[in-house]
Amino acid sequence: MSDYVAPEEREIEAALRPRVLDDFVGQKKVVDQISLVIKAAKLGGRSADHMLLAGPPGLGKTTLAMIVAHEAERALKLTSGPAIQSSGDLASILSALESGDVLFIDEIHRMSRSAEEMLYLAMEDFRVDVMVGKGPGAASISLEIAPFTLIGATTRSGMLPTPLRDRFGFTAFLEYYEPEDLASVLRASAIKLKIRLDDKALELLSHRSRGTPRIANRLLRRVRDFASVNGHEDIDTDIALSAMELFEVDQLGLDRVDRTLLTMLSTKFSAKPVGLSTLAVALGEEPDTIEAVIEPYLIRAGLIQRTPRGREITAGGLAHLGIQ
Ligand SMILES: Nc1ncnc2c1ncn2[C@@H]1O[C@H](COP(=O)(O)OP(=O)(O)OP(=O)(O)O)[C@@H](O)[C@H]1O
Ligand SMILES: [Mg+2]
Repeated sequence: MSDYVAPEEREIEAALRPRVLDDFVGQKKVVDQISLVIKAAKLGGRSADHMLLAGPPGLGKTTLAMIVAHEAERALKLTSGPAIQSSGDLASILSALESGDVLFIDEIHRMSRSAEEMLYLAMEDFRVDVMVGKGPGAASISLEIAPFTLIGATTRSGMLPTPLRDRFGFTAFLEYYEPEDLASVLRASAIKLKIRLDDKALELLSHRSRGTPRIANRLLRRVRDFASVNGHEDIDTDIALSAMELFEVDQLGLDRVDRTLLTMLSTKFSAKPVGLSTLAVALGEEPDTIEAVIEPYLIRAGLIQRTPRGREITAGGLAHLGIQ
């Protein structure tokens, strides 16, 4: 799989997003922590602390940011790291904020360095230093900005510079979901999308969703498509299974790219450790995609491991391929 999310999928995701904390499934610890931070801020009549949401794609970072703004009853402004190429870009975003706004910066690890430095000061003192004029006459002036809550999201928290990480009052690490939680996500989505599927089919999908709500919702739609094309109104295990076979999603939820990676590690690289860049070339994927999207689930499922000398398939990984 890749982390590309098609525009149609974004629209459906928007429709399926829980709006309030109570409807956000799982991640109990994170939900309790966020709830407390919001309540404390409300009691004190101030903006909530800055929050960093970290974790693999599709686990609910954007969803949580929207929920926080909603629960805190604040306006939400959205932007993303790649859109902030200079400190000037950031200065104009920050100076347009109104008191109490929630600013969401998605993929915050991809912001430019100069913007990062400006952000430190803004987070701490609600000020920005901007340069006016050019050449010898240039001067830096300090402008006040409205107090705001920053929510940063990242799939690569390790790539954030420490000074930036340290300025968040609170960091939430989202974990992969258990099948029971994914079953709840699927149940809620099936109701919203008016899809009828029985408990067994639901359970089957929940085990093939790679611990990820986005993937659960994606599989649900593929099964719905499969059922409707084949003239079924109600989805049972047989239909769900046939759809999974058609789309090449196996019992662990691995798709073709995942299995190609495992197969390469086992045969082409003879089950020896392989460096990330070599693996990326062999697989025809970006190293970044392997590191942030493909490999975290394979590691967590115990199929591959990261060693000082590179990525290596485990006994579990070989067993999954049917190799002794
Ligand atoms: N805890 C949850 N309960 C219910 N639905 C969820 C939950 N988490 C995520 N989802 C659903 O999964 C989809 C993806 O979630 P979201 O966009 O928030 O992920 P993300 O972490 O921001 O991903 P990315 O890193 O790709 O930006 C959304 O449609 C959302 O409805
Ligand atoms: Mg997101």
